[in-house]
Amino acid sequence: MKFKQMTAIAALALALPTLSLADADDDKLVINGELEMVTKTAAPAHLDGALSEVISGWHFRDDDTQKMQMDDFDNAGMLGVEAAAEMWNAVDGSEGKSCASCHGEAESMKGVRAVYPKWNEAAGEVRTLEMQINDCRTTRMGAEELKYAGDEMTNMVGLISLQSRGMPVNVAIDGPAQATWEQGKELYYTRTGQLDLSCASCHEQNYGNMIRADHLSQGQINGFPAYRLKNAKLNGVHNRFKGCVRDTRAETYKEGSPEFIALELYVASRGNGLSVEGPSIRN
Ligand code: HEC
Ligand code: HEC
Repeated sequence: MKFKQMTAIAALALALPTLSLADADDDKLVINGELEMVTKTAAPAHLDGALSEVISGWHFRDDDTQKMQMDDFDNAGMLGVEAAAEMWNAVDGSEGKSCASCHGEAESMKGVRAVYPKWNEAAGEVRTLEMQINDCRTTRMGAEELKYAGDEMTNMVGLISLQSRGMPVNVAIDGPAQATWEQGKELYYTRTGQLDLSCASCHEQNYGNMIRADHLSQGQINGFPAYRLKNAKLNGVHNRFKGCVRDTRAETYKEGSPEFIALELYVASRGNGLSVEGPSIRN
């Protein structure tokens, strides 16, 4: 424990942020030989110059991991997507309906991932995809909620994300979503835990550098859900946030908590302009 902490602090103290950009490789992400992804683009204006360019996490992974995402036959995240495609058509709940009963083919979800989290006018809240899926299940199907970060939910988010693959992330941060976005921004820059680190300490000031054995990315979420080689399944955004907060030795928030919803909106907006990549492959 003690040793790990010291390594983390030493890695950060020695880090040279000015070297960062040179470290993201120049490879191109083309999926199945035809779908070209935007993995680097000018940073959105709201970043006020904190980053000049936004870069997909794909660039920071090693060649083998990168390759697995370039062909759907090698992308193990597709197994989760297939499981969700079955669920899409399966009747569940007291109303005798499946997702398909109302939405038709899963392809009807094209464009949805790109704009989530999104303000829902009727509910008066910012909703993540997970929240929306559970709302359809409970209020429209009479079915049980899925566990927020459970496999069934994450796989369904994977199926829906896939329909937007290649489209630019474009979450709205103004209007009624602005207060939530501001809260997320505040969380992003707040230093916490024994290590006194914020998300920005690692993902804004030190991306491109090594921390222990890991090549630090910008912590973008355009690739989520992400199939991690570490646990061999699709992982949702809040699950990843939780791991990162724990790494700072801070108390973490729960998956689906208001804090993580706000943080997700903010982090998504930092990737506006990058292609939706989910399901991606990460270590
Ligand atoms: C009885 C009909 C019905 C069923 C069944 C249903 N939905 Fe929906 N769904 C809707 C309606 C209506 C909306 C638009 C609601 C709104 O905007 O608040 C919607 C919205 C959505 C959205 C947001 C789309 C957007 O553009 O923002 C997603 C995602 C979604 N549903 C997923 C699902 C999934 C996954 C299932 C199955 C688990 C499902 N729905 C089952 C009726 C249904
Ligand atoms: C101590 C450094 C550190 C801090 C602080 C930290 N992270 Fe991370 N994070 C990592 C490492 C290491 C990885 C794995 C390598 C990578 O993708 O950067 C990672 C990965 C991620 C990823 C996955 C990126 C991808 O493309 O797969 C996201 C998203 C993320 N972090 C978000 C956050 C958020 C939000 C915060 C603040 C709550 C945060 N991180 C705080 C070190 C950190």
